Amino acid sequence: MKLPHLSQRADWAAGQPISDLMHRALAAPQLISLAAGFVDPATLPVSATRAALTEILGDELDAQAALQYGTTHGFARLREQIREIHLASDGGASTQPPIDLHQVMLTAGSNQLLHIVSETLLDAGDIVLCASPTYFVYLGTLKNMGARAVGVETDDDGIVPEALEQTLEQLQQQGMLPRVKMIYVISYFDNPRGLSTSAARRAQIVELARNYSTAGKIYVLADDAYRELRYDVADVPSLRTHDDAAGHVIQSGTFSKCFSPGVRVGWGILPQELVTPVHDQKGNLDFGSPNFAQHLIERVIAQGRLQPHIELLRASYRTKLQAMLDAAREHLGPLGCQWVEPAGGLYVWLTLPEGLDAGMQGPLFDLALNEGMLYVPGQFFYPDEGAPAKRNTIRLSFGVQSPGRIAEGILKLAAAIRAAVA
Ligand SMILES: Cc1ncc(COP(=O)(O)O)c(C=O)c1O
Repeated sequence: MKLPHLSQRADWAAGQPISDLMHRALAAPQLISLAAGFVDPATLPVSATRAALTEILGDELDAQAALQYGTTHGFARLREQIREIHLASDGGASTQPPIDLHQVMLTAGSNQLLHIVSETLLDAGDIVLCASPTYFVYLGTLKNMGARAVGVETDDDGIVPEALEQTLEQLQQQGMLPRVKMIYVISYFDNPRGLSTSAARRAQIVELARNYSTAGKIYVLADDAYRELRYDVADVPSLRTHDDAAGHVIQSGTFSKCFSPGVRVGWGILPQELVTPVHDQKGNLDFGSPNFAQHLIERVIAQGRLQPHIELLRASYRTKLQAMLDAAREHLGPLGCQWVEPAGGLYVWLTLPEGLDAGMQGPLFDLALNEGMLYVPGQFFYPDEGAPAKRNTIRLSFGVQSPGRIAEGILKLAAAIRAAVA
């Protein structure tokens, strides 16, 4: 029911699962939470941050610049660094469309970038095509705007191009193609499954966006939050390398996962024609994200401390991922659970025996809580429309807990599953 005096958007925003989950986790601190996508507290970059801050605050003018308001676009030197890092990760400037500095915009985390871009492009009733399952916070963002998230079938290599084409085709037949504004893709070690989009599919997805842009431009929103968190696999060029001069790809990235979510600096590389409209939205929202945080990240990169930190993270998360997979093989495999081993990111996506409802109303959730562990029910990650939700799924995160606690958490989950199917 719509409350009096609240906006339509407040009504659309109501009932998110995340707050309830966080509340349950905080209310029982002894719980082994494999739920939240938080990063490892033990590897947060305390000394790199201290060194950067010491240098900034040791210089009166630098300190004053950092403590002042910044610009809507964000700190230019950091934007230059991001451009350089991005071009280099994608094989150098000759292999991709050029990036003008004004195309790079800094935000308070990449979530803000996703939000502002969506505000810029979407009216109520507009459509975003997503992997099914996908990042549920972004599903909330879309809901908040009255936009429709339509899920597209996804396998171990990402969104299935044939299914994407079929969805676009159906929407065209329904006369809804003009309402399709974006295809949202987490192409590296996605949330929630930890799996990446194959190189071949990256090209196909961008091509489909281009081919179906007949009634209005369809963008590909490439959310690369987990690109840096890869363990023992080679990097793959981003979706943007498949773009052409028309500019269909909106690139988003963040320092939250590869450095610190407390600092919360994210960034976007926008197609030329979106720079002014997105800038206008951001100007109205905050006329610039926290400048101090941007100066801090700039200095960390300038001091050469980002890459070594990423290497440290890889070593730590590799061990944690292994601990989760080992425990899953030992305790969950025999119970008929299935998963695909990720090569990066922070998550393992579990498919439970058919018919076992892992949702908050099903039997497993409370049994797991009673055992002393928390997970995120998979159902939250499915868009309301399109490829149907699988309720026998859960997302496990190995970011926060130690390898020992991860193994313990899996053992508890196994006990809960045994009790649920008994
Ligand atoms: C897929 C994905 N995108 C974006 C974000 C947002 O990160 P931030 O706003 O901290 O950059 C997250 C956070 O968990 C995520 O999982």
